[in-house]
Parts: sequence; C-alpha cells; structure tokens
Amino acid sequence: MEYLPLFFDLKGRQVLLVGGGDVALRKARLLIRAGAQITVVSLDVHPELQALLEESHGQIIIGEYVSGLILGKTLVLAATDDEQLNEQVYHDAVAANVPVNVVDNPPLCTFIFPAIVDRSPIVIGISSGGQSPVLARLLRSKLESQIPVSFSRLGQLVGRLRDKVKARFNSVNERRVFWEKVLNGQVAERVFAGQDAEAEALLLAQIEAGNPDSQVGEVYLVGAGPGDPELLTFKALRLMQQADIVLYDRLVSAEVLEMCRRDADLIYVGKKRDHHAVPQQDINKLLIEHARAGKRVVRLKGGDPFIFGRGGEELEELKAAGIPFQVVPGITAASACSTYGGIPLTHRNYAQSVKFVTGQLKNRTSDLNFEELIQPNQTIVFYMGLHTLDVLVSGLLSHGKPENTPIAIVSQGTSVQQKVLTGVLSNIVERQNQAQLEAPAIIIVGEVVSLQEKLAWFGQQALVGPQVN
Ligand SMILES: C[S@@+](CC[C@H](N)C(=O)[O-])C[C@H]1O[C@@H](n2cnc3c(N)ncnc32)[C@H](O)[C@@H]1O
Repeated sequence: MEYLPLFFDLKGRQVLLVGGGDVALRKARLLIRAGAQITVVSLDVHPELQALLEESHGQIIIGEYVSGLILGKTLVLAATDDEQLNEQVYHDAVAANVPVNVVDNPPLCTFIFPAIVDRSPIVIGISSGGQSPVLARLLRSKLESQIPVSFSRLGQLVGRLRDKVKARFNSVNERRVFWEKVLNGQVAERVFAGQDAEAEALLLAQIEAGNPDSQVGEVYLVGAGPGDPELLTFKALRLMQQADIVLYDRLVSAEVLEMCRRDADLIYVGKKRDHHAVPQQDINKLLIEHARAGKRVVRLKGGDPFIFGRGGEELEELKAAGIPFQVVPGITAASACSTYGGIPLTHRNYAQSVKFVTGQLKNRTSDLNFEELIQPNQTIVFYMGLHTLDVLVSGLLSHGKPENTPIAIVSQGTSVQQKVLTGVLSNIVERQNQAQLEAPAIIIVGEVVSLQEKLAWFGQQALVGPQVN
C-alpha cells in the first residue's frame, strides 16, 4: 500500500494555505467543510476565497510566505505556481514535522487528498496513490451514482440511536446482526422515501422488540423509462438490484430487465392491447401477496408509472391493504422519443405548451376534445395511437387543423430499432401504410416536427435523413 488512508479530525484546527488563486479556493472549500481554521498567505487573494475566509473566520495575510507561519499548524498546503516557493514550503513543513501537501505535486507531499464521496457522516475516500487521479475520479462517479444522497440522513439516524442499541444488546455479534437487518430493511427505505420521523419511530420500536424483522415487505413502483437502460434513474437501478421479485410489463426492454438482481424472480404480467395477459386485479393481488410475505417487490413499468401507466390504481390497492410503497418516476415515452427523435416538444417559435393524449379510443369513435387539440402553438403527443392513426388524423382535419401540419411517428424510441416517420396530416396515413412502423410508437403533431430534419442525432436516421419511406 503506497499510502495509508486516515480520516483526519480538523475541527477547529489550524491549517496554513500558501497561495490565493483558484486551486487554493478549491482546497479551502474542502478544508472548511471539515471545520478547519485556515490562514491564507498570498500576494493576492481570489475574491471568493476572501469571502469564504471572512465567513469562516479564517485569516488572510497579504504578503510573502515566511517559514514561521508553519508553527502551530496541523496541516500545510501549498497551491502556488511558484515552484521554488512550493519547494521551500515543503522543506520547511517536513523540518517542522507538519504534514504537507503541494497541490498536484506528489513528490512534494507527505499526505495526499483522495477523491471523495461525501454522505457525511459516511465519507468515502478513493486514492490511486497519485498514479491516476482520473481513474480515482471515475470510480468516485460510479460510487456517487450507487449511493443515494439520503445515506447521509440514514447515517445520522443510526448515529443518534447507536447507544440505545448498545444498551439493548450485550454482544457485538447481536448488535452486528441487528444493524445488518436494519440497514437492509424498512428503516433504511423509510429514510430513502423521505419519511425520517417514521424511520426513527420504526427503529425505536425494533430496538425495543429486539428484532428488526419485518412481517411486511414493500412495493416499489418503478418507471423503467422507454427502453435504453442508460435512461434509468439511479434510484430505479438501486431498487431493481435489491428486489426479491420483479413484476414487469411488455414495454420493459430486455436490456433494462438485465439490470435486475440476478437471483430475483422475474414475473411477466404484460398486457397486450385488447388482451390482458394478467388481469389488473390479479396483478394487484400478486403485489399484495408477495409484500405480505415480507418480499421486496419491484413493479416495473415502461416509461413513467403515472403517465398512462395505471400506477395510481395499483397504489390505491396497496394503500387499502396497508402495504408500504415508493414510486420512482421514469422518463416517459413522449419525452424520450421526442428527444431521441430530434423533435423538441416546446420551442419559443412554435409551441408554448404540450399535451399528452391517449389515442386508445373506445370503439374507435373519437371521444377526444378535438376543439382543444387543434389550437395553434402547442404540441400534441398521442400515446397508444398507432392503431387509431387514421381516426386521430381525420378528427384533427375535420375540426379544422391545417392539412400541412407537420406530424411524426416515433417507433421503438431510444432503441437501436428506433424509426421516425415524418409527414403532414394529409399524407401521414398513407406513409405509415407504406412504412408499416411498429408499436410501440408515439405520434407527435405540431410545428416542432419541422425541426426534426435539422436536429435528428440518434441512430441511423441521423445519418440517412428524416423520412423512413
Ligand atoms: C400504456 S402506455 C405506457 C406509457 C408509459 N407509462 C410512459 O410513460 O411512457 C404505452 C404507450 O407508450 C408509448 N411508448 C412507450 N414506450 C415507447 C417507445 N419506446 N417508443 C415509442 N412509444 C413508446 C406508446 O405510445 C405505447 O403505446
């Protein structure tokens, strides 16, 4: 091991920072977060650094560095562009036995700064021993995406009740088993759901009972986005990776499903149009049954669960059954397909609002408010409208929408099979008859579609041009 990682208590301790520029400012911010009292010595000082030091009751010495400044300091940092000065600071600090860091100069350091993931009180430091700071930062960004920010609040809660747990359990082993269950269970999830008071009450009850085992599991209603797994949220991924059971829909892509925990039970409850593979009430029953058996159940839905996803209905059932749940939004098809299709949904020159509308019409007769849908300066996005395209188009035309209104169909958006068919209201049905784009597809109507030719960026379409036929 090149360096020993240690966590330094700097609260109220004196740190000397030689230099007053950008780099010194960055280091000062970090040191102040750890509670250090900083003295900056420099010929000039960055105004932000000056403000920061005033706020944190630090000291600024405008002038030359002298070795006497090191006396009484816990750490010394040099962040100047004067190599000679940096070297002098290093030698003075070593002679005075004070740990020293010359920024970006490992040979002139007796300690180095790691890349930090800060979920205080949980703090992770990553170091490459000065070999590759970029690699350390890369690892850091991976961890940042895996560790929810709310770990910080969880750490604080555990810290507050630690003594009670110590008093309740005599052996270290009992305490370890207790904490492992707590941190993998309901208490942690309540904190992640922003319900800190409930989490604390639950933890107190579990301490008293001496057992954190929960009889009831939890359901996570998770938006899986439109297909590209990179469009999953961090939270969706975390919950998918800890689920015991995953109930998923037809619209959830295989690539997204791949991201679930390896040994989770995957149950397909997909529905096809006019053909319910598993009736909704049976899905609700499954969710409740598994949660009651103490399982962590992910209900994975394409796009966003609250947009044409019947998420609300499932939650009402869970609420009535007293099952705890969390909901994770996903990127909805309108947003994803328009973005990957090169069609901004709003644009200052063309559309000041956007409407998401279902194209699934009872008995193919239109029950939509076409008077509203034909208004100018807005974009209409039809979900589930591919099979009713002709009805939608004739409804818009017969209510007065101009024949030359641009329209696009985005099929299998965000996947490598994505296709975008553009046209105008008067020719789109014929074009689709020829092109036969497949479901799932959304239909975008409005002037913004005219930008597609210019803005297409994703997939083959961006290279070969906007029209599929
Ligand atoms: C039952 S709705 C579910 C919508 C989903 N909850 C969402 O927020 O995207 C299904 C419709 O979403 C649209 N859709 C979903 N994923 C899509 C994709 N990858 N490409 C195009 N359209 C998609 C289609 O209009 C499809 O008929």
